[in-house]
Amino acid sequence: MTDSIVIIDFGSQYTQLIARRVRELQVYSEIFPWDADFSGMSALRPKGWILSGGPNSVYDDNAPQLQPAILESGLPILGVCYGMQALTYALHGEVAGSEKREYGSAQIEVDAENPLLPQGSQSVWMSHGDRIESMPPGFQALARSASSPYAAMGNLSRKWFGVQFHPEVHHTPGGREILRRFVHEICGCASDWTPQGIIESSVQQIRSKAGSERVIVAASGGVDSSVAAALVHRAIGDRLVAVFVDTGLLRKNEAMQVETAFTRNLGHSLVVVNAGDEMFSALKGVTDPEKKRRIIGEKFIRIFENEAKKAGNPRFLVQGTIYPDVVESSSHSNSQSQTIKTHHNVGGLPGTMQFELIEPLRLLFKDEVRLVGETLGLPHEMVWRQPFPGPGLAVRCLGEVTPERVERLRAADEIYTSELIAAGWLHSQETRDHLPLAQAFAVLLPVHSVGVMGDRRTYQETVALRAVTSEDFMTADWAPLPHDLLARVSSRIINEVAGVNRVVYDITSKPPATIEWE
Ligand code: XMP
Repeated sequence: MTDSIVIIDFGSQYTQLIARRVRELQVYSEIFPWDADFSGMSALRPKGWILSGGPNSVYDDNAPQLQPAILESGLPILGVCYGMQALTYALHGEVAGSEKREYGSAQIEVDAENPLLPQGSQSVWMSHGDRIESMPPGFQALARSASSPYAAMGNLSRKWFGVQFHPEVHHTPGGREILRRFVHEICGCASDWTPQGIIESSVQQIRSKAGSERVIVAASGGVDSSVAAALVHRAIGDRLVAVFVDTGLLRKNEAMQVETAFTRNLGHSLVVVNAGDEMFSALKGVTDPEKKRRIIGEKFIRIFENEAKKAGNPRFLVQGTIYPDVVESSSHSNSQSQTIKTHHNVGGLPGTMQFELIEPLRLLFKDEVRLVGETLGLPHEMVWRQPFPGPGLAVRCLGEVTPERVERLRAADEIYTSELIAAGWLHSQETRDHLPLAQAFAVLLPVHSVGVMGDRRTYQETVALRAVTSEDFMTADWAPLPHDLLARVSSRIINEVAGVNRVVYDITSKPPATIEWE
């Protein structure tokens, strides 16, 4: 069993980030709602607890509380923000309600020698309402800030700590070191959560679940389904049947890439269904976004069902569910969480299909999925591929979806994407101080405008460019792409793509806009 840290979720928007940061330190961490059954958490045999922040005050009616069994476990604890307040409250210290939130960067001073925080001053990110008025017995102050004498506190003999700030966010530059000290030095966790280790244990689990049965996967070329398929293939070889539906709505070269990657890298053949003509005739005359989605989704399901039947209706289906999906769907019991997520199931399969699921990525974050994919030898373009909606280019081709307009969009998108890759804006790994683009694509608008090219009047369509940064796709910021890059993309699109005479850049965040235009 690998060493692990359990994260108790008090409803903070940053809880998943804490789990990711711990895993970046190669220590397995798992999130549990604050009121989860203790036996489930202790079954992991964690070496320490991290208590997340949360939107409540400890004095609220039904405020989430620290389970006494966590204190009784004798393991190290790190309380973050609300987690610190819940720890204080549980240990009979005093938490003071305050009308005013402290939000933003602050400077802390650490004087006391202690195993959690390096001495000296550092800048941290604060986001809290209540604060600690008096510490519980046995605790000492470890750091102070202008607004609080207890920006951090610790009971050194019990290895219980609380920090008022958020060590998990980018804006606390020394946060990684604080978490490293906690998980490695204070809890004594080994760095054993590695891609190789993840692959070995998941191959074993898949083998024992699948037995000698056959397994089917809908290969979309997306990162998650490809890595999931690669893991299952490593576990059971040719008993995996991969079905790839080419909807005719994919990006340039994508169908070919998926085919090559599956046949070459997974070393087995793929059932390719060319559904382009069928899709375009079903979409003829349709302009309503929801109707497009429905038509494509239904067709996809019918085709997949048909292929499953031809393959003798395998018992298992591989799904690329990843950890954030699991946490989000389990946290609706947790009424503290204020996140609202829209689910996109188009291009997915209905729950009514008769399969048992194999979900090898259920416990992995996206960045871990990518590392596993790379370790399994999947091609770079596949591992670093951006999310792509199930209905494909149909929802980026506003107005009617015709083969000619999709081809126009595809050509513009290819120019944009290749320039972004060349300039280093796409396909690179996230670092702590620079968020790369989460998604960037072209959109074709059914808007004609007047232009002039070579002294001739033109009256043609418009391409909109979209590029966003985002941690989780629930909110996103438009990216400040350099002007020279935008200029190059614009001029290439106008010169190389027939039928387009105007290019615009989308400067809307989500909310109020969504990432896709439809
Ligand atoms: P929005 O446009 O809602 O998109 O901000 C958030 C993320 O979801 C992707 N998306 C979809 N994915 N089927 C999918 O599989 C869909 O119908 C769909 N619509 C949007 C979008 O690309 C972005 O990553």
